[in-house]
Amino acid sequence: MYDVYSIREDFPVLREVIYLDSAATSQKPVQVADAVSEYFKRYCGNYGRGAHRLSKMTTEKYEDAREDVASFLGLPAKKSIFTRNATESINMVALGMDWKKGDNIITAVVEHHSNLLPWIRLREKGVEVTIVDSDDKGIVSPASIEEAITERTRLIAIGHVSNFFGSVQDIKSISKIAKKHGVKFLVDAAQSAGEMQIDFRGLDIDFLCLPGHKGLLGPQGTGILYIREPERLSPVYVGGGTIKTVTLDEFSFDEIPSRFEYGTPNIPGVIGLGRAVNYVKDIGVESIESHLKAVSGYCVKRLSEIPQVEIYGPENRGSLVSFNVRNVNPHDAAMILDETKKICVRSGQHCAQTALARLCISGSIRASFGCYTTMEEIDALAESVEMIAKAFS
Ligand SMILES: Cc1ncc(COP(=O)(O)O)c(C=O)c1O
Repeated sequence: MYDVYSIREDFPVLREVIYLDSAATSQKPVQVADAVSEYFKRYCGNYGRGAHRLSKMTTEKYEDAREDVASFLGLPAKKSIFTRNATESINMVALGMDWKKGDNIITAVVEHHSNLLPWIRLREKGVEVTIVDSDDKGIVSPASIEEAITERTRLIAIGHVSNFFGSVQDIKSISKIAKKHGVKFLVDAAQSAGEMQIDFRGLDIDFLCLPGHKGLLGPQGTGILYIREPERLSPVYVGGGTIKTVTLDEFSFDEIPSRFEYGTPNIPGVIGLGRAVNYVKDIGVESIESHLKAVSGYCVKRLSEIPQVEIYGPENRGSLVSFNVRNVNPHDAAMILDETKKICVRSGQHCAQTALARLCISGSIRASFGCYTTMEEIDALAESVEMIAKAFS
């Protein structure tokens, strides 16, 4: 039995506010804060750089976190790189692949800017970027991706769940298409990791990019990049931590994953992330997924009872609902929700301007949920939205 009320005991801030902005960043359980604090209080040292006890303990804990995160995601630890966020993970692929003029990349109109701009920028190098359309619910058909493939296509880059529509893309079918055509496949799992059961082992994915600070409940400043063939990707940054030998004329790269983890990493963040995935694992992703489905479904139901509200996205959605209230600027609505009822939602264009442009809108309100969201919080949102709708109509 999913006990959301006992989960909430681990998130003290939820006694103060109604937090409906988990798609931007999630709240963290006290266990994660404790793990981070323990690092600073008991064994703060640098990673992989010393023979003394604090450095050794830090390195051990950091590598334990890698094992925990990789095994949670069903990935090989050696090919799982710690990054600062999903944006960095995606850029490391865009800047690390050996592009030739005329190469082609396929992505989609619904993507977050972080899975769009790194590709669009490659146009400067003569790379062609094909941006496939979605339907008006934000679903990208695998057939449209297959149709866009040319003999110069080298990469398909798709977000698993749209952070505006909430639409869930059929990554299984897309991965089969990529494999059939010998094209590499990148998945941006920013809005699904930790919230949906995904067996990445069973999918043909070449690059998996995700942040640690959303559904995985880890600290900000953490992300993952899984690379299926890491020896074929060039590290973007070089310097301390990435090399084996250095002379004045040349250097050789360190083993994988070290060659991709430049400089001093976000050690407290990674240690917190390791604790966070174990927290999520203890609750169970399957249980979280069905809880979030119920919450999203209830939110759609409650908001659709308000005639002035327009909801975007498909029925089967991730853990978020984007909507607008007739005659109300989304930022004004978000401000009123916060000031009157301490309800925290996101408003604006959600770093997905082309997705919103698809519907000829320039902003929306977005309510998004976490393992700790209750139906009562959705009721509070719906009641306040109804009040705003009436006041402005
Ligand atoms: C779908 C999607 N991709 C990428 C990102 C970027 O994540 P980060 O801010 O961790 O780089 C986000 C963040 O909201 C997102 O929703």
